[in-house]
Amino acid sequence: MESTMIIPWVLAFVPLIILMMKKINGQRRLPPGSLGIPLIGQTLELSKAMRSDTADECVPIGPSLQQVGIQQRREDALQQAAGVGEPADGREEFVSDDGEDHRRLRGAILSFLKPEALKQYVGLMDNEIRLHITQHWHPDHVEPLMKTLTFNMICTLLFGVERGERRDTLVRLFQQVIEGTFALPLNLPFTRFNRSIRARSEVGAIIREVIREKRAKLETGEKGHDLITSLLTMCDQDGLPLLSDQEIEDNCTVAMVAGYDTTSGLLTYLVKLIAEHPNVYQLLLQEQEEIARGKKEASDPLTWEDIGKMKYTWRVGTEALRMYPPILFVFKTVVQDIEVGGYVIPKGWQVLWTTCITHLDGSIYPDPLKFNPSRFEDQAAMPPHTFIPFGGGARLCPGNEFARIETLAMIHYLVTRFTWKLCLIENTVSREPMPIFKQGLPIHIYSR
Ligand code: HEM
Repeated sequence: MESTMIIPWVLAFVPLIILMMKKINGQRRLPPGSLGIPLIGQTLELSKAMRSDTADECVPIGPSLQQVGIQQRREDALQQAAGVGEPADGREEFVSDDGEDHRRLRGAILSFLKPEALKQYVGLMDNEIRLHITQHWHPDHVEPLMKTLTFNMICTLLFGVERGERRDTLVRLFQQVIEGTFALPLNLPFTRFNRSIRARSEVGAIIREVIREKRAKLETGEKGHDLITSLLTMCDQDGLPLLSDQEIEDNCTVAMVAGYDTTSGLLTYLVKLIAEHPNVYQLLLQEQEEIARGKKEASDPLTWEDIGKMKYTWRVGTEALRMYPPILFVFKTVVQDIEVGGYVIPKGWQVLWTTCITHLDGSIYPDPLKFNPSRFEDQAAMPPHTFIPFGGGARLCPGNEFARIETLAMIHYLVTRFTWKLCLIENTVSREPMPIFKQGLPIHIYSR
């Protein structure tokens, strides 16, 4: 072949070669590690690890996942990755909205859950806890007790639903909704997912009924102290309702799902950790008795000021959240290519940001497996995004203050009224996806 004829052939292949080089380069920059089986990825390994509560060991297996854990500590991580959480029945709740809608809905819920607003509800929370302790705290299993407490707390403060048949129906239905949230999305009769969808629709009907009742009360000038009433009274700049009834219904459901198992998980772990660390119990008692002594009458409820004095108690809560975060990871969709440690995570990937990689990192928390509340003596000095049980950025949990007050008030009454011992030496935990004590954490409890 003449040389003049070879040149056009070579030139014709140049763009193809460049394209191939680019592709290879692109692939090289992806985080290394297996993506698992097509379509289902590493879901099976992760589910197995969750059930045996070893997901913190499993997650770093895929370097791609570990890289995301590292990225979590960078200030910009959560702003760059926007969350996508599809509710079981495909409704548009605000966790799955982005941009303007998310900000509007989040703003509405936050105006009820921000500390300045919650201040006035400490008395209501106190009342709910006292009632709960009087009715339920006998020798028993801690986990179901804590679930009863957090459910009742949400029913009173968020829904304004009285004790009785309607509340009992709601607790059964919500349990089914939660079970389906992380189930395989198989909408066939008798699957968890299908049961969850049906339960969600029954919950919707009850909440709509509650909304109608609250609206009627507002029209007669009666005020309510709950989230639904507060959302019903919010208006935009034109004086029109800020949220539709559908949005109120959907977001009450989200708040219940997000706030029920999480806070009860934290409280259950706290009972276990306090029993295992008698020195911690003594320090808690000292702080809480000091607060109790400051009351004129033993029956006086806790106040916002009392909550502010519970510094050591919250250090204990914080350390429990570090070691045993109720939410181990959250899925996010990467909305634009991000570079982490020299690798590119491409737009469109589903990634997990995980709490455990950061919380158990010895370079941030020396001796990370030791339960040591004093490591949080100077929390303000800690680098940003090193303590992330409530997430961070634009989607930071809006219920964190609600959970903090509820936890502190409950610990106050537990340590000042009781001592307790664990019944079992080994209390195995499964993550479904919230931590569940398989035997329910049985304890022997003694009045003080
Ligand atoms: C110990 C208790 C709790 C923990 C550990 C916790 C943790 C979290 C986490 C990790 C997220 C996801 C953040 C993200 O996507 O970046 C979240 C979101 C959320 N949480 Fe909590 N939570 C707790 C209690 C509560 C409570 C009591 C409520 C309501 C009263 C609540 C309401 C919500 C809501 C509405 C969201 C969605 C926020 C959004 O997408 O903008 N949480 N929570």
